[in-house]
Amino acid sequence: MLIPKETIADINRKADIVDVISDYVALQPSGANYKGLCPFHKEKTPSFSVNRTDGFYHCFGCKESGTSITFLQKYLNIPFIEAVKMLAIRYGIKIESKYDDKADSEESLLYRLYDSAKDFYIAELYRVGEKAFEYYKQRNLSDNSIVKFALGYAPNNFERLTKHFAHSDYSTEILIKSGLLRKNEKGKYDFFRNRTMFPIRDFIGRTIAFGGRQLEKNDKSGKYINSPDSLIYNKKQTLYGLYEGKTEIRKTKTTFVVEGYLDVISLSQSGIYNVVAPCGTSLSLEQLRSLKKHTGCEILYFMFDGDEAGKNAAFRGIEIALKLGFDLRLIDLPEGQDPDSFINTADGRKKFNTIYNESKNFVEYIYHTLNDKNLLNTPAEKSTTIRNLLKLVLFHPDKLQHKYYTDFIVDLFKVDVEELRKLYVKMRNELKESNLRSSLVSINKNDLQDLNEPETTIDNFTTISNITLEEKKIDNNFIEKEELLPAERAVFSYILRHNDNFKISQEKYEFNENILLSGLAKDIYYWFTEYEDSENIFQSLLEDEDVPDNIKNILSELKMYEIKESKHWNKYSNIKAVNNDTALIKIPLLQLKDTQYLNEMEELQKKMKANYTDERILKHFYEILEKHKKFMEYMNKF
Ligand code: CTP
Ligand code: MN
Repeated sequence: MLIPKETIADINRKADIVDVISDYVALQPSGANYKGLCPFHKEKTPSFSVNRTDGFYHCFGCKESGTSITFLQKYLNIPFIEAVKMLAIRYGIKIESKYDDKADSEESLLYRLYDSAKDFYIAELYRVGEKAFEYYKQRNLSDNSIVKFALGYAPNNFERLTKHFAHSDYSTEILIKSGLLRKNEKGKYDFFRNRTMFPIRDFIGRTIAFGGRQLEKNDKSGKYINSPDSLIYNKKQTLYGLYEGKTEIRKTKTTFVVEGYLDVISLSQSGIYNVVAPCGTSLSLEQLRSLKKHTGCEILYFMFDGDEAGKNAAFRGIEIALKLGFDLRLIDLPEGQDPDSFINTADGRKKFNTIYNESKNFVEYIYHTLNDKNLLNTPAEKSTTIRNLLKLVLFHPDKLQHKYYTDFIVDLFKVDVEELRKLYVKMRNELKESNLRSSLVSINKNDLQDLNEPETTIDNFTTISNITLEEKKIDNNFIEKEELLPAERAVFSYILRHNDNFKISQEKYEFNENILLSGLAKDIYYWFTEYEDSENIFQSLLEDEDVPDNIKNILSELKMYEIKESKHWNKYSNIKAVNNDTALIKIPLLQLKDTQYLNEMEELQKKMKANYTDERILKHFYEILEKHKKFMEYMNKF
């Protein structure tokens, strides 16, 4: 953290969030809050609420939430530090220049270095880049696109960039580490030479790497060469075009995913701005996760090259897109075309609309691709394909969509509905079991890297069942949509009402982590304990960069809601929830406890069925039953 926490808290306290947001969004008073049309997604009725007292906003439509600082960051696409400075100036708050000690950190040196290299390559384009310009024109790129994507030129020379940095303060070590220069016995030399240069930017527009395309065919090095991973660049997490396309992605919640740098630029040039590409790797889970996190994108269109490699890329990408819950559509390009060449054919933009309208969901796409390749002829091929498709369906966290996809399988494969339903249920149960097993082993988030590289390809889709649900560890988060139970929501709402409620509920009502059922609730509990002594838990959580966005969003949503008695509670008790604090915390806690008992009994019953002679299980079962009975009696008295 560059700026002290206290300063951030001070800024959030002094900044009038209604005032800040009103500069950009028309707000109307509405009850205790202000309301307006959400600037982060398209809407006709206002669901964007701003609360002046607690200094935060929340959109009930797209779930975006945050403080004055995050609003400016997201709305203006500026870095955190810039947003802080803007508010500090506006509200006369002095920022201690503590963060200046960090100005020389390796990370910020690399940012500066890459920014300056980007400017250098642009300058070279205008100075000596006729060849590169000619090439850009030949690829039909407009001056506008060249500027928008900050394209440049690395001259055909081993020492231009080396000399450029020779009298700078950058150390040899950092210049080599950055990947911009290399070293041999004779000394340093430029890595990118005689190439058109594509700066790769992070989400807020900082240049963090380059892709360089050769201008002349040269067998010794590749068509493209790319900067190596560094402190500021991780190619597996970076999407080319995200910075340039994010505003449109946010607005439409839709993204076109293509394979190459030029595909991104050409589509953008023809008015399709919401387009991204992986940076010379296959599409990864991390990239899509970052897309979702930064833009709220929900709909993905895969538009890969019209060749075998492009189709294999699509097959591989399907699994990760579904795991993350995207609404996925696939666009088929004519054989031998890529999005860039396609959009540049005569009438390309019009033809784009046609193939866009003919896009397929993944079941249709896989069916037609395999069928066209004569890979769906035998009953065995069909049956294996159906199983593999069902596995993909089961990856989608939104269970309501499962039926929709299985309907497509029924129609396309002309398979019996009942048979398919049975198979679906069987596979779903297997999946649940394997999840249960893997959730017993605690999953380190870094292990999820394994999930990045599904090996599904056209050729093995019909033969081996290579999407191994059982063998791969599956993060439960991908299977179950992360939601709080109604009772958990009620408990957290209660705590958010008054700051000291967290401790009171722990001490007086025996509220603890074990009573919570969903993983998300347990996460929230953890964050509450981190700040249990804070003067304002809610504010502290919002201001902590380490608290995940989804948790911040849920807490803001709860805080915005008026506390109402939940209809669900009545199911668990004959008494009506009275609108006092005791009922507000006690009833949901009791409900959670009850659910816990019932779950435990269900588990034990299953065990008894499998192992009816084991008396210990039976004994345990009766103990729980007894506890539950007492619990119900207590509830009825209450
Ligand atoms: N790529 C790479 N290294 C290579 C070839 C490709 O990193 N040797 C990456 C680049 O990011 C490229 C993408 O893969 O943009 C797609 O490759 P390809 O389809 O071959 O390139 P195009 O974008 O079609 O390039 P061009 O149109 O310039 O030939
Ligand atoms: Mn291509």
